[in-house]
Amino acid sequence: MTLSYYKEELKKTATSLAKSGKGILAVDESTKTIGKRLASINVENTEDNRKAYRGLLFTTEGLGEYISGAILFEETLFQDHKDGESMVTKLEKLGIIPGIKVDKGLRPLAGGYNVETFCSGLDGLVERASDYYAQGARFAKWRAVLQITSDGCPSKLSIKENAWGLARYARSVQESGLVPIIEPEILMDGSHGINKTAEVQEEVIKEVYMACEQNGVYLEGTLLKPSMTVQGAECNEKVSPEKIAELTIRTMERAVPAAVPGIVFLSGGLSEEAASVYLNLMNKIIRKANWNIGFSYGRALQHSCLKAWKGDDITAGQKALLARAQANSEASKGCYVAGSQPSSDEALFVAGYKY
Ligand code: 13P
Repeated sequence: MTLSYYKEELKKTATSLAKSGKGILAVDESTKTIGKRLASINVENTEDNRKAYRGLLFTTEGLGEYISGAILFEETLFQDHKDGESMVTKLEKLGIIPGIKVDKGLRPLAGGYNVETFCSGLDGLVERASDYYAQGARFAKWRAVLQITSDGCPSKLSIKENAWGLARYARSVQESGLVPIIEPEILMDGSHGINKTAEVQEEVIKEVYMACEQNGVYLEGTLLKPSMTVQGAECNEKVSPEKIAELTIRTMERAVPAAVPGIVFLSGGLSEEAASVYLNLMNKIIRKANWNIGFSYGRALQHSCLKAWKGDDITAGQKALLARAQANSEASKGCYVAGSQPSSDEALFVAGYKY
């Protein structure tokens, strides 16, 4: 099959994922990363425990009202719930579209600065994507990471390489019918101010879309997953939520083509409450382009849920998940009232975060 065969379907899937009032649940943590999450509630990182936790998420009644898609790690895409039904079927029953993380992780970028990386996984990607499609996945994720440092990162080389990798990935999975979520994350690590983030992010996203054009990526069948335009985690400057929303939207307006149906932000280490508040403020701004401004949160949707579940309390875990999903659904329509749903203010930032 080719991209032209899938065009209509890609557009339809991307539009369904970016529906107003809905967002994406990112649960594609690698086995090592989910291990850290489980360790924080004293649960051992076994396949059964991973299955129990993700099974809890995917059987939360009513979740499909707020969540349009869920990004899975490969293990989960091919896994059955303990009642014997596949995880894919569980999601489909809730009206949630299954997606899959297809990158193979970050590698050091030869020729770049110390901390710089490129995202691996292009080899055989068209074929792998086609297997994932056969298993029920309809969209994909690829996370490229850039960092701002006082000694000149991100370098031109790293911006070019990561943008090119994202575009190659996007074109490759579209050939197999999967909508690519294009994720150029700017880490919060660093002491730079918000204006520096805005300047770098604008350059990075413009480069991404230039590479997409050169690779013939079908933009109507894609989504962008950026970080919000925030100051570095070690920056002393106090920036208001309103300023963050304003600069984030300005960056998107300057760099994201109007043909892209949706922008789904990652939470990147923001607290649950901050992630909802910033999203809500962005949706109050009158925008120049028509993209849906939504969410694709990992930590900011799961933190309270994990703590409430503690390994055995399914009801409490599902209640906490539903509360954050509803809050972010409201925020994506600009009608979230801060504090109206139980949430945590705990910063979820981890230096040098690996997925
Ligand atoms: P966070 O929302 O925890 O940053 O994760 C989203 C994600 O999918 C990162 O790739």
